[in-house]
Amino acid sequence: MDIRFQAMPKNMAKLEEMVEWRAECVVVPVFKGDKPLSFIPALADAAPWLSISPGLRDFRGGKGHTAFLYGHPDLPISRAFFIGLGKREDFKPAALREVMAMAVKELSERKIRHLALPVESLRLLAADKPEALRLVEEAVLGALLGVYEFTEYKSSKDDDKAFRPEYLSLLFAEEYVPDDVQAAARKAEALAGGICYARDVINGPANVVTPEYMEETARKLAKVHGFKVEAHGPEFLREQGMGAFLAVSLGSAVEPRLIVLEHCPKGKEQEQPLIVVGKGITFDSGGISLKPSAGMEKMKRDMAGAGTVLGLFKALGESGLAGRRIIGIMPCTENMPDGKATRPGDIVKTLSGKTVEITNTDAEGRLILCDCLTMAQNMAKPAALVDIATLTGACVVALGEKTAGLFTNNDGLGNKVLALAAQSGERMWRLPVWDEDLDVLSGGTPADLNNTGPREGGALFAALFLKQFVKDETPWVHLDIAGPAYTQKPEPTNPGGATAFGLRTLLELALES
Ligand code: BES
Ligand code: ZN
Ligand code: ZN
Repeated sequence: MDIRFQAMPKNMAKLEEMVEWRAECVVVPVFKGDKPLSFIPALADAAPWLSISPGLRDFRGGKGHTAFLYGHPDLPISRAFFIGLGKREDFKPAALREVMAMAVKELSERKIRHLALPVESLRLLAADKPEALRLVEEAVLGALLGVYEFTEYKSSKDDDKAFRPEYLSLLFAEEYVPDDVQAAARKAEALAGGICYARDVINGPANVVTPEYMEETARKLAKVHGFKVEAHGPEFLREQGMGAFLAVSLGSAVEPRLIVLEHCPKGKEQEQPLIVVGKGITFDSGGISLKPSAGMEKMKRDMAGAGTVLGLFKALGESGLAGRRIIGIMPCTENMPDGKATRPGDIVKTLSGKTVEITNTDAEGRLILCDCLTMAQNMAKPAALVDIATLTGACVVALGEKTAGLFTNNDGLGNKVLALAAQSGERMWRLPVWDEDLDVLSGGTPADLNNTGPREGGALFAALFLKQFVKDETPWVHLDIAGPAYTQKPEPTNPGGATAFGLRTLLELALES
């Protein structure tokens, strides 16, 4: 779906010079109790038939209530879809995203090719200008995510179901479309592109989405958008001394890949980068500490962190915005049982020099991440180091399926990420990393560290393990997205499956200068 803009001179001297808004259907979000038309005079002018439309008589704007109205098919705007937002005082910008997603689904079913949204309506929903721009972003994002589906592996395509609107026009009652509104819409378009791209990669099955596939995807992205890219195989891991990452890959018939993408705006070569490390376990069987078979198929999505990093770069590239220098590191491997696989009790040497006893091969995420955290700090002095990983079931038990755990060694960075997340509608909640509990990981093992702690507080011990590989002076945030990376239940902006959770917050962080 393309985003377009239509302007219209407001004070028309002569009626014949009037430029009309055109669309097959106009979408109008309305608060409960507001007179649906009186607050968008330009729409009342553009589609005078609306004001005498009987179908509007009973529409009250209650949350989720809708009214589909029809004018004469030859009119420039011949249909309108009113959709209720509920009470003004309860309104949150995220609600607009959901409403727009619902609207495009309805309109797709009616095979409407060209829908439109009067931006005046958003200005009137918003308290101030920044909020109005935010609403433009939400509306465009909602419309684009509302029609996302993962259909790559359906061999018979149902044409009726596959129908998608081609255009979304943003309508202005002025002569020019303001630059900031265009920018907000373009940014949302890039973000939606990145999210859909990440979801496709994360939803893909493990027999297709292998570490090598992740490399090819990163290379294609780099080529299109001019990112630097590097990818390394098992020899590199061995030579470098990334013994923890290597250990996870040993049971697999496919080779691991360590993929590095870099976006460096001109003149920022010397800037301290933001480094994002994404867990890329393309299938987590648990290894020799095998998982139970029920639900194991879901572990094809254990690369959601790495998929989200790919989507972040896609969104950055599509946005055309410079942002800051950013490096994405994606350790990708399967975790499989085999004669060559790592055994519980094996001891490996990490890139940092610390040794780790792998008491549970299913706690593999922290093993691939710890070597990459060391690598990140060896490459450059990161201005911020963020890792994003489907790391522990314990985090889902603690916070539920919709909220990520945020752990940090730096209040400034932690609070910044929490604020950006709140603004992005991504739920993150800070959990503690207690240094004084380190003896739980370092005691009772012949190595420096044990890769597993007790079940109780499992998410915290995973974070505490990772923290052992982060220098005090490196501002670091760890995001455990085991819960929100997927959704079982369909949502307005997601049919079920991968969510690309965290991408929006990370894009905001990447665009900060
Ligand atoms: N990939 C899993 C974590 C996970 C669980 C993600 C559920 C999504 C949904 C991770 O590698 C894992 O297996 N963690 C173990 C750690 C334990 C062995 C210390 C867990 O959470 O049980
Ligand atoms: Zn695991
Ligand atoms: Zn895992």
